[in-house]
Amino acid sequence: MDYKFTYELEMELSIVEAVSQTGKTVVLHDPGETGPFAGDVYLVRHKPKSVLCTPIVYQDEILCMVYLENNLTSSAFPPSCQELIRLLGSLAALSLRNSNLYEQFSSTVEQLHKEIDKRQAAQLQLLHAEKLSALGRLSASIAHEFGNPLIGVRYLIEDIKNRPTLSKEDRDLLEIGLEECDRMKHLINDLQQINKPSSGKHERFNIHNTIDNVLLFQKKNLKNKKIAIVKAYDLSLPEIVAVEDQITQVLINLTINAVDAMPAEGGCITVSTSGNAEKVFISIKDTGSGIRPEDLDHLFEPFFSTKPAAEGTGLGLPVSYGIIARHGGTITCSSKPGQGTTFTVSLPVSPAQTPAAENQ
Ligand SMILES: Nc1ncnc2c1ncn2[C@@H]1O[C@H](COP(=O)(O)OP(=O)(O)OP(=O)(O)O)[C@@H](O)[C@H]1O
Ligand SMILES: [Mg+2]
Repeated sequence: MDYKFTYELEMELSIVEAVSQTGKTVVLHDPGETGPFAGDVYLVRHKPKSVLCTPIVYQDEILCMVYLENNLTSSAFPPSCQELIRLLGSLAALSLRNSNLYEQFSSTVEQLHKEIDKRQAAQLQLLHAEKLSALGRLSASIAHEFGNPLIGVRYLIEDIKNRPTLSKEDRDLLEIGLEECDRMKHLINDLQQINKPSSGKHERFNIHNTIDNVLLFQKKNLKNKKIAIVKAYDLSLPEIVAVEDQITQVLINLTINAVDAMPAEGGCITVSTSGNAEKVFISIKDTGSGIRPEDLDHLFEPFFSTKPAAEGTGLGLPVSYGIIARHGGTITCSSKPGQGTTFTVSLPVSPAQTPAAENQ
């Protein structure tokens, strides 16, 4: 049995200890003067005339102790009283045991609920990842099919454009055709990025330098749009090993989205980092329009965009998702319409620590 004694307790500890060892009730008369505990400091000082100490037992287990003292009479606990205390004790034991069982039961049910929630969330995440991966594969294979005919069309236009008999007007029209071909080529490249096996060299670099470069690159744009930048870096983070160009691309996509979401009067983007020896987290928080709850599930799907056709293709996030997944990391988003959005990227410090990286 576990019990704690403190010096404020008004009882003779050696009696309690003896009862806890034997499991038997002890009734003592003038215990400070006669019997096995005579001379004990506590008993001599407090001079109790009668002491009763009995264990509360349930199925051979001592649940707790009842310790009673009387300072007036040396026969305060006659057999009838002892019987009553034993009876009350067994009732107390039963209700103690029940309440313990109830507590155990409640905590088991709670644990079970948590486990079910965890499994459901993991299953949903898996389904979502599978759906994105299937969409990525489909988009990439469609893009591949478009790639070769596009090269042919571009050659053809270029060839016709170079003919000397062409009027300036026709030549300008063909120039527009060439520009459109180049735009399509870019789109195809982006689409192929979603499902491309990791290419590029893994290198060790300081993530804060990369973020600073991304922000520097957009400095003018941020200033024009009255957007303040707050940096909250955890400078104790280790350097990470990743394909820096690709991580840069993800950070550019996320910051451009944050800028696009800002109202005309401007706002604030907070870039923060945190992590430990195994993982780093990069959060990009904006005070922009926020995302409607019904859109949250579609953010990483290719071609999902709420922007006008000329401004957004809906490939920034799927490409970023692909890059981060290939690095063995995750991108998550939380958003409140009208208040703003936070995207958080997690990356392993070193690719060797992730199963995804083993395939690269
Ligand atoms: N920070 C953000 N705030 C509000 N909405 C966002 C934010 N980031 C992304 N979104 C929403 O997610 C959609 C998809 O983003 P994504 O970057 O994939 O495509 P896009 O920005 O529309 O086009 P692209 O990046 O290809 O130019 C956006 O159109 C927008 O509706
Ligand atoms: Mg975008």
